[in-house]
Amino acid sequence: MNKSPSVVQIQTPPDVIDLGRGDPSLSLLPLDLIRESAQVRLSQDDNSFLQYGTEQGDGFFRLALGNFLTQHYGFDVPSENLFMTNGISKGLDLLCTLFTQAGDTIFVEEPTYFLALKIFADHRLQIIPIQTDENGLIIESLQEKLEGHAPRLLYTIPTHQNPSGHTLTQERRTRLVELSRQFDFLILADEVYQLLSYNEKPPTSFGVYSESENVISLGSFSKILAPGLRLGWIRAHPNIIQRLVTCGLLDSGGGLNPFTSAMVRGVIESGNLEKHINRLIQIYRARLHFMDLSLQKHIPEMKYSVPQGGYFFWVRLPEMMDTSELRRKAKDFKVDIRQGTLFSSKNQLKNYMRMCFVYYEEDKIEEGIIRLKKSMQSQ
Ligand SMILES: Cc1ncc(COP(=O)(O)O)c(C=O)c1O
Repeated sequence: MNKSPSVVQIQTPPDVIDLGRGDPSLSLLPLDLIRESAQVRLSQDDNSFLQYGTEQGDGFFRLALGNFLTQHYGFDVPSENLFMTNGISKGLDLLCTLFTQAGDTIFVEEPTYFLALKIFADHRLQIIPIQTDENGLIIESLQEKLEGHAPRLLYTIPTHQNPSGHTLTQERRTRLVELSRQFDFLILADEVYQLLSYNEKPPTSFGVYSESENVISLGSFSKILAPGLRLGWIRAHPNIIQRLVTCGLLDSGGGLNPFTSAMVRGVIESGNLEKHINRLIQIYRARLHFMDLSLQKHIPEMKYSVPQGGYFFWVRLPEMMDTSELRRKAKDFKVDIRQGTLFSSKNQLKNYMRMCFVYYEEDKIEEGIIRLKKSMQSQ
C-alpha cells in the first residue's frame, strides 16, 4: 500500500492532541505576507538573488534586518555585524564546526533544548550540564564547574528558555560575560524567543555584548515568521564574522540563503514583520493565559511558574512520577507531551514535562488537558 508522503517534520495523527509539540500553528504561518513580498520581488527585473549569494548574506537584507533589530533590541545593530544563517540550528552547527574539535567541552543549561544536544553530540563534544533556577543559569554552579573543566563553548537560551520558560536576569548576564572573558570560552546565546514576550520586555539581547569576541548571539525567523523559511542570523564581533565568512562551506556555496532572504527583506521593509509579531503576541498571550487557567482547573496538582514569553510550560509533578511512563499511558488517551528526561543531558528530570501553549487553539488545549488528566488518573 502507498503511504502518503510526509510533508512536515513531525506528523501528529489527526485524532491526537500533541501538547508537547513546539511548532507554530499552521494557521498562523503567514502565507499572505510571503506571497505579497515575493510577488513584488519576482516581478522586478533584478535577478541577482538567483546567483550565488554574498557570503555574509545580502547587504540590503542585512540592512533591513539591522534596522529592525536596532528598533526592537534598543541598541545599535549595524548590518556589518550580522551574518545570515539558515536558522539557529545551522548556526550552531557551523559554529561547532569552526570553533571546536571532537572531545572539547561544552557547558549547557540543565534543562536545555534537547535538539541542540544532538547537534553538540554530532560534533562529539563533551556535554556538561550547569544547574538553573527561576532566574536561569546559576552562576555559582557555573563557577564550580569551571574549577574542573575548561569549556570551549557555553550554550544558553537566555530568554523564555526552552523548555523551562525562565529568563536569565541582567545581573547574571553581566557575570556570565565577565566569566567568559576570564576563562576564555565562547557564549552561544540562542535567542529564538527574544522577541516573543507577553508582559514585560526581557533583559537586552546578548548582541549588546558583541564588542567582546566571547559572545555570539543567534536569532531566527522560525518563531516570528515561519520555520520553513530556514532563515536566521548571527550577531557577533567582526573577527567572529570574518571567521564565518571565510569558511569552506561559504567559499564553495556562497551565502546561505539568498533566495529566501530576498523574499523576507520585503516583509521587514514593509512593516509587515512588526505587525505579524504583534499579532502573534496577542494570540499567544491569550493561549498562555488559557492553558494556565485550564491546568489550574483540571490538574491543580501540577506545579509550574507561569511563563512570561516563548512557547512552553515546564511542569513539575510529584517526585515519584515518571513522565516517560505518563507519555506511554497518554497514547491510549490520544494526547502527548514531552518527558523531562529529553531535556536533561544526564537523563534526569523524570518528573517534569514540557507543554506548548502556542500550537493549538483554546478548545484543543482544554481537551488535551482533560485527556492528560484521564491518563494520569489511569496510571
Ligand atoms: C531554543 C531553540 N533553539 C533553536 C530552535 C530551532 O531554531 P531554527 O528553526 O532557527 O533552527 C528552536 C526550535 O524549537 C528552539 O526552541
